[in-house]
Amino acid sequence: MPRISRVEVKAPAKVNLALLVGGLDELGYHPVETLYQSVDIYDTVVAEKSDSLELDVSGDFVGDIGPVEKNLAWRAAELLARHANIEPNVKLTIQKNIPIAGGMAGGSADAAGALIACDALWGLETPRHELLSLAAQLGSDIPFSLVGGTAIGRGRGDQLTTVLARGEFHWVFATSEQGLSTPAVYREFDNLNPDPAAPRIPEQLLIALGAGDVATAAKYLTNDLQPAAMKLRGSLSGILRTGVDAGALAALVSGSGPTCAFLAKNADRAVDIAIALQASGLVQRTLRATGPVKGVQVVAVD
Ligand code: C5P
Repeated sequence: MPRISRVEVKAPAKVNLALLVGGLDELGYHPVETLYQSVDIYDTVVAEKSDSLELDVSGDFVGDIGPVEKNLAWRAAELLARHANIEPNVKLTIQKNIPIAGGMAGGSADAAGALIACDALWGLETPRHELLSLAAQLGSDIPFSLVGGTAIGRGRGDQLTTVLARGEFHWVFATSEQGLSTPAVYREFDNLNPDPAAPRIPEQLLIALGAGDVATAAKYLTNDLQPAAMKLRGSLSGILRTGVDAGALAALVSGSGPTCAFLAKNADRAVDIAIALQASGLVQRTLRATGPVKGVQVVAVD
Protein backbone atom coordinates (compact mmCIF):
# COMPACT_ATOMS: atom_id res chain seq x y z
CA MET A 1 0.00 0.00 0.00
CA PRO A 2 1.44 3.43 -0.94
CA ARG A 3 2.32 5.55 2.09
CA ILE A 4 0.29 8.66 2.71
CA SER A 5 2.31 11.86 3.19
CA ARG A 6 -0.42 14.51 3.30
CA VAL A 7 -4.13 14.65 4.13
CA GLU A 8 -6.30 17.73 3.71
CA VAL A 9 -9.75 17.97 5.31
CA LYS A 10 -12.36 20.69 5.65
CA ALA A 11 -14.32 21.13 8.87
CA PRO A 12 -17.51 23.21 9.08
CA ALA A 13 -18.71 25.84 11.55
CA LYS A 14 -21.96 25.32 13.43
CA VAL A 15 -24.86 27.34 14.67
CA ASN A 16 -27.23 26.33 17.45
CA LEU A 17 -30.84 26.56 16.24
CA ALA A 18 -31.81 25.96 19.84
CA LEU A 19 -29.68 25.88 22.99
CA LEU A 20 -31.53 25.05 26.18
CA VAL A 21 -29.47 24.96 29.35
CA GLY A 22 -30.15 23.35 32.74
CA GLY A 23 -28.54 23.80 36.16
CA LEU A 24 -24.80 23.40 36.87
CA ASP A 25 -23.87 19.79 37.76
CA GLU A 26 -21.27 18.61 40.30
CA LEU A 27 -18.62 18.26 37.54
CA GLY A 28 -18.88 21.93 36.57
CA TYR A 29 -20.95 21.40 33.42
CA HIS A 30 -24.51 22.26 32.47
CA PRO A 31 -26.86 19.68 30.97
CA VAL A 32 -28.07 20.98 27.61
CA GLU A 33 -30.50 20.10 24.86
CA THR A 34 -29.30 21.73 21.72
CA LEU A 35 -30.11 21.54 18.05
CA TYR A 36 -26.97 21.96 15.99
CA GLN A 37 -26.72 22.82 12.31
CA SER A 38 -23.42 22.84 10.42
CA VAL A 39 -22.93 25.66 7.91
CA ASP A 40 -20.68 26.11 4.88
CA ILE A 41 -17.91 28.15 6.50
CA TYR A 42 -14.90 25.85 6.74
CA ASP A 43 -11.52 25.68 8.40
CA THR A 44 -8.99 23.64 6.43
CA VAL A 45 -6.76 21.24 8.35
CA VAL A 46 -3.74 19.69 6.62
CA ALA A 47 -1.80 16.84 8.26
CA GLU A 48 1.67 16.04 6.87
CA LYS A 49 4.38 13.56 7.78
CA SER A 50 6.84 14.96 10.29
CA ASP A 51 9.34 13.81 12.96
CA SER A 52 7.51 15.67 15.72
CA LEU A 53 4.22 17.40 16.50
CA GLU A 54 4.08 20.82 14.87
CA LEU A 55 1.25 23.32 14.42
CA ASP A 56 0.91 26.29 12.12
CA VAL A 57 -2.24 28.41 12.13
CA SER A 58 -3.05 31.11 9.60
CA GLY A 59 -6.08 32.97 8.29
CA ASP A 60 -8.42 35.88 8.84
CA PHE A 61 -9.38 35.17 12.42
CA VAL A 62 -6.09 34.09 13.95
CA GLY A 63 -5.28 36.97 16.33
CA ASP A 64 -3.67 35.66 19.49
CA ILE A 65 -4.07 31.88 19.33
CA GLY A 66 -2.24 31.31 22.64
CA PRO A 67 0.14 28.44 23.46
CA VAL A 68 0.10 25.61 20.89
CA GLU A 69 -0.27 22.90 23.57
CA LYS A 70 -3.66 24.36 24.43
CA ASN A 71 -4.82 24.33 20.83
CA LEU A 72 -7.61 21.78 20.40
CA ALA A 73 -6.19 20.42 17.13
CA TRP A 74 -2.83 19.82 18.84
CA ARG A 75 -4.57 18.06 21.73
CA ALA A 76 -6.64 16.02 19.27
CA ALA A 77 -3.46 14.74 17.57
CA GLU A 78 -1.93 13.89 20.96
CA LEU A 79 -5.07 12.11 22.16
CA LEU A 80 -5.46 10.03 18.98
CA ALA A 81 -1.76 9.06 19.04
CA ARG A 82 -2.01 8.03 22.71
CA HIS A 83 -5.15 6.03 21.93
CA ALA A 84 -3.30 4.21 19.11
CA ASN A 85 -0.11 3.88 21.16
CA ILE A 86 2.06 5.71 18.63
CA GLU A 87 4.09 8.94 18.62
CA PRO A 88 2.08 12.07 17.63
CA ASN A 89 4.36 12.87 14.71
CA VAL A 90 2.49 15.20 12.39
CA LYS A 91 2.74 18.71 11.01
CA LEU A 92 -0.71 20.30 11.28
CA THR A 93 -1.45 23.39 9.22
CA ILE A 94 -4.77 25.11 9.86
CA GLN A 95 -6.29 27.75 7.62
CA LYS A 96 -8.91 29.47 9.75
CA ASN A 97 -12.04 30.93 8.20
CA ILE A 98 -14.35 30.37 11.19
CA PRO A 99 -14.37 33.20 13.76
CA ILE A 100 -12.34 32.36 16.88
CA ALA A 101 -14.11 32.24 20.30
CA GLY A 102 -17.26 33.35 18.52
CA GLY A 103 -19.71 30.59 19.42
CA MET A 104 -19.40 28.88 16.02
CA ALA A 105 -17.24 25.97 17.18
CA GLY A 106 -14.15 27.02 15.21
CA GLY A 107 -11.78 25.37 17.70
CA SER A 108 -14.00 22.29 17.76
CA ALA A 109 -13.98 22.10 13.95
CA ASP A 110 -10.15 22.17 13.99
CA ALA A 111 -10.03 19.36 16.56
CA ALA A 112 -12.52 17.24 14.61
CA GLY A 113 -10.55 17.95 11.41
CA ALA A 114 -7.28 16.98 13.09
CA LEU A 115 -8.75 13.67 14.31
CA ILE A 116 -9.87 12.69 10.80
CA ALA A 117 -6.71 13.97 9.07
CA CYS A 118 -4.32 12.28 11.52
CA ASP A 119 -6.31 9.05 11.47
CA ALA A 120 -5.91 8.91 7.68
CA LEU A 121 -2.24 10.05 7.68
CA TRP A 122 -1.26 7.45 10.27
CA GLY A 123 -3.36 4.74 8.54
CA LEU A 124 -5.17 3.92 11.79
CA GLU A 125 -8.72 3.32 10.52
CA THR A 126 -10.04 4.05 14.02
CA PRO A 127 -13.70 2.97 14.26
CA ARG A 128 -16.16 5.85 14.07
CA HIS A 129 -17.55 5.32 17.58
CA GLU A 130 -14.02 5.51 19.03
CA LEU A 131 -13.34 8.77 17.16
CA LEU A 132 -16.61 10.16 18.54
CA SER A 133 -15.62 9.15 22.06
CA LEU A 134 -12.19 10.82 21.69
CA ALA A 135 -13.93 13.90 20.28
CA ALA A 136 -16.22 14.10 23.33
CA GLN A 137 -13.20 13.92 25.65
CA LEU A 138 -11.75 16.99 23.93
CA GLY A 139 -14.87 19.21 24.06
CA SER A 140 -18.65 19.26 24.10
CA ASP A 141 -19.16 20.43 20.49
CA ILE A 142 -16.48 18.29 18.83
CA PRO A 143 -18.56 15.13 18.16
CA PHE A 144 -21.04 17.28 16.25
CA SER A 145 -18.25 18.92 14.25
CA LEU A 146 -17.30 15.41 13.08
CA VAL A 147 -20.84 14.39 12.17
CA GLY A 148 -22.35 17.65 10.84
CA GLY A 149 -25.79 18.05 9.29
CA THR A 150 -28.58 18.73 11.78
CA ALA A 151 -28.53 16.93 15.12
CA ILE A 152 -29.77 17.13 18.68
CA GLY A 153 -27.01 17.20 21.30
CA ARG A 154 -27.84 16.12 24.85
CA GLY A 155 -25.74 15.75 27.98
CA ARG A 156 -22.98 18.30 27.47
CA GLY A 157 -24.03 18.53 23.83
CA ASP A 158 -21.93 15.50 22.94
CA GLN A 159 -24.63 12.80 22.90
CA LEU A 160 -25.93 13.12 19.36
CA THR A 161 -29.16 12.14 17.65
CA THR A 162 -29.50 12.99 13.98
CA VAL A 163 -32.82 14.63 13.10
CA LEU A 164 -34.73 14.83 9.86
CA ALA A 165 -34.31 18.36 8.57
CA ARG A 166 -35.52 19.58 5.20
CA GLY A 167 -35.02 22.97 3.63
CA GLU A 168 -32.03 25.24 3.14
CA PHE A 169 -31.14 27.83 5.76
CA HIS A 170 -29.64 31.14 4.62
CA TRP A 171 -27.60 32.74 7.38
CA VAL A 172 -25.76 35.97 8.04
CA PHE A 173 -23.23 35.97 10.87
CA ALA A 174 -21.98 39.16 12.49
CA THR A 175 -18.61 38.75 14.17
CA SER A 176 -17.04 40.81 16.94
CA GLU A 177 -13.38 41.66 17.29
CA GLN A 178 -13.20 40.37 20.86
CA GLY A 179 -14.29 36.79 21.63
CA LEU A 180 -16.31 35.74 24.66
CA SER A 181 -15.13 33.00 27.02
CA THR A 182 -17.56 30.05 27.08
CA PRO A 183 -17.00 29.34 30.82
CA ALA A 184 -17.60 33.03 31.61
CA VAL A 185 -20.89 33.01 29.70
CA TYR A 186 -22.02 29.84 31.52
CA ARG A 187 -21.08 31.48 34.87
CA GLU A 188 -23.19 34.51 33.98
CA PHE A 189 -26.03 32.13 33.03
CA ASP A 190 -25.81 30.72 36.58
CA ASN A 191 -26.04 34.21 38.06
CA LEU A 192 -29.10 35.05 35.95
CA ASN A 193 -30.82 31.65 36.43
CA PRO A 194 -30.53 30.37 40.00
CA ASP A 195 -33.08 27.60 39.34
CA PRO A 196 -33.29 26.80 35.59
CA ALA A 197 -35.87 24.37 34.19
CA ALA A 198 -34.82 21.05 32.65
CA PRO A 199 -33.68 21.82 29.07
CA ARG A 200 -36.07 20.80 26.31
CA ILE A 201 -36.00 21.69 22.59
CA PRO A 202 -39.37 23.12 21.46
CA GLU A 203 -41.36 20.35 19.74
CA GLN A 204 -42.67 22.86 17.18
CA LEU A 205 -39.10 23.50 15.99
CA LEU A 206 -38.51 19.82 15.24
CA ILE A 207 -41.85 19.53 13.44
CA ALA A 208 -41.14 22.63 11.32
CA LEU A 209 -37.66 21.29 10.44
CA GLY A 210 -39.09 17.93 9.39
CA ALA A 211 -41.57 19.74 7.16
CA GLY A 212 -38.87 22.00 5.66
CA ASP A 213 -40.81 25.04 6.89
CA VAL A 214 -37.92 27.42 7.57
CA ALA A 215 -40.19 30.44 8.28
CA THR A 216 -42.02 28.57 11.06
CA ALA A 217 -38.77 27.10 12.40
CA ALA A 218 -37.46 30.67 12.65
CA LYS A 219 -40.11 31.50 15.26
CA TYR A 220 -38.76 28.84 17.60
CA LEU A 221 -35.04 29.51 17.40
CA THR A 222 -33.84 30.10 20.94
CA ASN A 223 -30.69 30.40 23.03
CA ASP A 224 -30.70 30.29 26.83
CA LEU A 225 -27.16 31.70 26.87
CA GLN A 226 -28.21 34.82 24.99
CA PRO A 227 -29.15 36.97 28.04
CA ALA A 228 -25.82 36.05 29.66
CA ALA A 229 -23.83 36.87 26.51
CA MET A 230 -25.76 40.16 26.18
CA LYS A 231 -25.03 41.04 29.80
CA LEU A 232 -21.31 40.52 29.21
CA ARG A 233 -21.40 42.32 25.85
CA GLY A 234 -23.93 45.17 25.89
CA SER A 235 -23.43 45.95 22.19
CA LEU A 236 -25.11 42.69 21.11
CA SER A 237 -28.67 44.01 21.56
CA GLY A 238 -28.13 46.79 18.98
CA ILE A 239 -26.63 44.30 16.53
CA LEU A 240 -29.57 41.88 16.89
CA ARG A 241 -32.08 44.74 16.47
CA THR A 242 -30.33 45.95 13.30
CA GLY A 243 -30.68 42.49 11.73
CA VAL A 244 -34.37 42.24 12.62
CA ASP A 245 -35.03 45.73 11.25
CA ALA A 246 -33.32 44.63 8.02
CA GLY A 247 -35.79 41.76 7.63
CA ALA A 248 -34.22 38.77 9.40
CA LEU A 249 -36.72 35.97 10.16
CA ALA A 250 -34.81 35.37 13.38
CA ALA A 251 -31.86 36.92 15.18
CA LEU A 252 -29.98 35.23 17.98
CA VAL A 253 -26.60 34.92 19.61
CA SER A 254 -24.70 31.89 18.25
CA GLY A 255 -23.80 29.44 21.04
CA SER A 256 -21.98 31.32 23.81
CA GLY A 257 -21.45 34.30 21.48
CA PRO A 258 -20.49 36.94 20.69
CA THR A 259 -21.18 36.07 17.03
CA CYS A 260 -24.80 36.91 16.17
CA ALA A 261 -26.74 34.74 13.71
CA PHE A 262 -29.50 36.03 11.43
CA LEU A 263 -31.78 33.74 9.48
CA ALA A 264 -32.87 35.15 6.12
CA LYS A 265 -35.80 34.19 3.91
CA ASN A 266 -33.51 33.63 0.92
CA ALA A 267 -30.07 34.47 -0.45
CA ASP A 268 -31.09 37.96 -1.62
CA ARG A 269 -32.50 38.89 1.80
CA ALA A 270 -29.28 37.62 3.37
CA VAL A 271 -27.32 40.12 1.25
CA ASP A 272 -29.65 42.94 2.41
CA ILE A 273 -29.17 41.98 6.05
CA ALA A 274 -25.40 41.76 5.68
CA ILE A 275 -25.29 45.21 4.07
CA ALA A 276 -27.44 46.76 6.83
CA LEU A 277 -25.27 45.24 9.54
CA GLN A 278 -22.08 46.37 7.89
CA ALA A 279 -23.49 49.88 7.34
CA SER A 280 -24.48 50.14 11.02
CA GLY A 281 -20.82 50.19 12.02
CA LEU A 282 -21.72 47.92 14.97
CA VAL A 283 -20.07 44.78 13.64
CA GLN A 284 -16.52 43.99 12.65
CA ARG A 285 -17.45 41.69 9.82
CA THR A 286 -20.36 39.80 8.30
CA LEU A 287 -20.24 36.32 6.79
CA ARG A 288 -22.96 34.67 4.74
CA ALA A 289 -23.50 30.92 4.86
CA THR A 290 -26.00 28.19 4.16
CA GLY A 291 -26.76 25.04 6.08
CA PRO A 292 -27.00 22.23 6.75
CA VAL A 293 -23.78 20.75 5.31
CA LYS A 294 -21.82 17.56 6.01
CA GLY A 295 -19.36 17.26 8.90
CA VAL A 296 -15.60 16.88 8.40
CA GLN A 297 -14.73 15.80 4.86
CA VAL A 298 -11.45 14.63 3.36
CA VAL A 299 -10.60 16.92 0.46
CA ALA A 300 -7.25 15.51 -0.74
CA VAL A 301 -4.85 12.65 0.06
CA ASP A 302 -1.29 12.54 -1.34
O1 C5P B 1 -16.61 21.24 26.73
P1 C5P B 1 -15.93 22.55 26.45
O2 C5P B 1 -14.44 22.49 26.63
O3 C5P B 1 -16.37 23.15 25.16
O4 C5P B 1 -16.49 23.54 27.57
C1 C5P B 1 -15.80 24.70 27.99
C2 C5P B 1 -16.38 25.16 29.32
O5 C5P B 1 -17.72 25.62 29.14
C3 C5P B 1 -16.48 24.09 30.40
O6 C5P B 1 -15.29 24.00 31.13
C4 C5P B 1 -17.63 24.60 31.25
O7 C5P B 1 -17.18 25.60 32.12
C5 C5P B 1 -18.55 25.26 30.23
N1 C5P B 1 -19.60 24.35 29.76
C6 C5P B 1 -20.66 24.08 30.60
N2 C5P B 1 -21.68 23.25 30.17
C7 C5P B 1 -21.65 22.70 28.94
C8 C5P B 1 -20.57 22.96 28.06
C9 C5P B 1 -19.56 23.80 28.51
O8 C5P B 1 -20.72 24.58 31.72
N3 C5P B 1 -22.65 21.90 28.55
